[in-house]
Amino acid sequence: MNAPSSRLSGFHKQSVADRVARVAEFSGLDQADRDLLAGSGHLDLELANRLVENVVGTMNIPLGVATNLRIDGRDYLVPMATEESSVIAAVCNAARQCYDNGGFTTSMSGTQMIAQIQLVEVPDPEHARIRILERRDEIRAICDGCDPVLLKLGGGFRDLEVRVIQSRSGPMVITHIVVDTRDAMGANAVNTMAEKLGPSIAEWTGGRTYLRILTNLADRRLARARCEWRTEDIGGAEVRDGMMIAYHFAEADPYRAATHNKGIMNGVSAVVLATGNDSRAVEAGAHAYASRSGRYTSLTRWEVTREGNLAGVLEFPMAVGLVGGATKAHPMAQVALKMLGVKSAEELARIIAAVGLAQNFAALRALATEGAQRGHMALHAQNIAMMAGARGDEIDAVAKRLVALGKVRVDVAETELAALRAGR
Ligand code: MEV
Repeated sequence: MNAPSSRLSGFHKQSVADRVARVAEFSGLDQADRDLLAGSGHLDLELANRLVENVVGTMNIPLGVATNLRIDGRDYLVPMATEESSVIAAVCNAARQCYDNGGFTTSMSGTQMIAQIQLVEVPDPEHARIRILERRDEIRAICDGCDPVLLKLGGGFRDLEVRVIQSRSGPMVITHIVVDTRDAMGANAVNTMAEKLGPSIAEWTGGRTYLRILTNLADRRLARARCEWRTEDIGGAEVRDGMMIAYHFAEADPYRAATHNKGIMNGVSAVVLATGNDSRAVEAGAHAYASRSGRYTSLTRWEVTREGNLAGVLEFPMAVGLVGGATKAHPMAQVALKMLGVKSAEELARIIAAVGLAQNFAALRALATEGAQRGHMALHAQNIAMMAGARGDEIDAVAKRLVALGKVRVDVAETELAALRAGR
């Protein structure tokens, strides 16, 4: 028999039901699979179909709430969407251990996004650079003319940067327009401006404009969080010093820094996703920022204060918004934002930075003391028990046995489940 073809012509124009039928035929999905696809949960299929292309269903991810967070003197309950066990518990624990010491203090460098316009085929790039800089007022007018609503909300063009870079395609003149996008993440706003500006830049310089797109290295939109954990609140000086050694490892070694920063992003991406924001944009910005010295390193910085407290800071690009895209359209994102009670994109960004710092504290503490696995295992064992076929009360019973045995494996879970069912 011929292998089925993935050339599904007209697929994008079909109804969701018809798409499901074709995918079911291609992949051999049974009725139970098809029923699962049809039950879209809280995200209406009609709406899902408007958000992205070729929709056949929706994918539910657990939404949890991080407690104990005190940020800038106010208490928050923070929604987190993640499939990974221990992530939410870790934030709650880290936040509890600094709550009595005042919690987190946050700030933001601004809400400015940058779009790039690439100019090539200019024989005199340095000359062209200055000519573009001379047009600042016209550039401002073109950018602000694209978005009167943004202007009314106090946003709009803020700054102009032009650089000459060398590349394998020759010299390029790269124009950055810096735009305050206020409560919008701003991708659409700045991309529109960059596209509008392209022909003028080509005309002023005699070059050719190519790419016109935002940069995710949003370093004019840095969210900052800091916090001090008192030594007595975190288990003593030995724990604190162990955490410092763990941090120095990440600072010195990109292999470790990748995992260290992944831990930060466990918390960050969970809040970004829960609020309907673009988690890939935030991830790209974070990792690019972590490499800005030319060597990839830790996004957080840790120190011991004169009083002996463990002080952590996190500063990184945080391009999130409250208006536009899935943030406005997704009903659960709206509930998440209501839960948070944030009034601005800046406030949301600052909360996310606090969560990232808390997440990193928790990982460092776990790794420097008992290791990551102990806290992880209780929930993980439940997943394994379910994979082995446990249902209802059996899940807890089998998971407890796995943890007690120190063998959280599916084969062991199957044996334990069989024993439980046989009354042994
Ligand atoms: C696991 O998702 C995250 C950690 O690996 C982070 C870290 O190592 O710092 C525990």
